[in-house]
Amino acid sequence: MSAPDEGAGNNAAGSLSCEQADIAYKTSTIVEVKVVLVYSTCLEVAISTMQKRAFDPLTVGEVAKRSGVAVSTIHFYEAKGLIEGWRTEGNQRRYPRFVLRRVAVIRIAQRAGIPLAVIRDYLSAIPIDQALNKDDWSRLTATWQALIDERINSLLQLRNDMDRCIGCGCLSLADCPLRNPDDQLGAQGVGARLLEK
Ligand code: FES
Repeated sequence: MSAPDEGAGNNAAGSLSCEQADIAYKTSTIVEVKVVLVYSTCLEVAISTMQKRAFDPLTVGEVAKRSGVAVSTIHFYEAKGLIEGWRTEGNQRRYPRFVLRRVAVIRIAQRAGIPLAVIRDYLSAIPIDQALNKDDWSRLTATWQALIDERINSLLQLRNDMDRCIGCGCLSLADCPLRNPDDQLGAQGVGARLLEK
């Protein structure tokens, strides 16, 4: 079945608009064959338009605007292998629409304090030319929750150590809990452990 021109608003039969067909389909007690045909044609056009839009590539400016990040950030993510685009014949960058979801995931992970290298490692398990789906997102959040918990515990430890540090400015390896929490360096052996790192 050939689709009528986009946005024309009229069906192939020409006698009913999509809007009229929609109303007739929903309100008629006797479903006429013509109305059904018109209605299905309109649906076909709508689906086709949605499919076309899904594959319309975006410029780097559009990706940046829709993602709420700077153009330079998009380039940076690409240079780091987190997203991927391609060049047109006119040497312009283009990106698939699903890159927006990948950028959103990266931003959320960054807000949670997860380093880019770690984000890239986890995202590398998902083909870069495919959209992230719900299962991918569930897997990522489950993994990242453990990392976030670890980070929270580390920050709580730091805060507790700050409470125990008297703030005298000594930053003593022996006495300052901020410099040497729980004397971890002492457990590694004698000598200037910090300087040996
Ligand atoms: S700076 Fe002196 S105890 Fe921390």
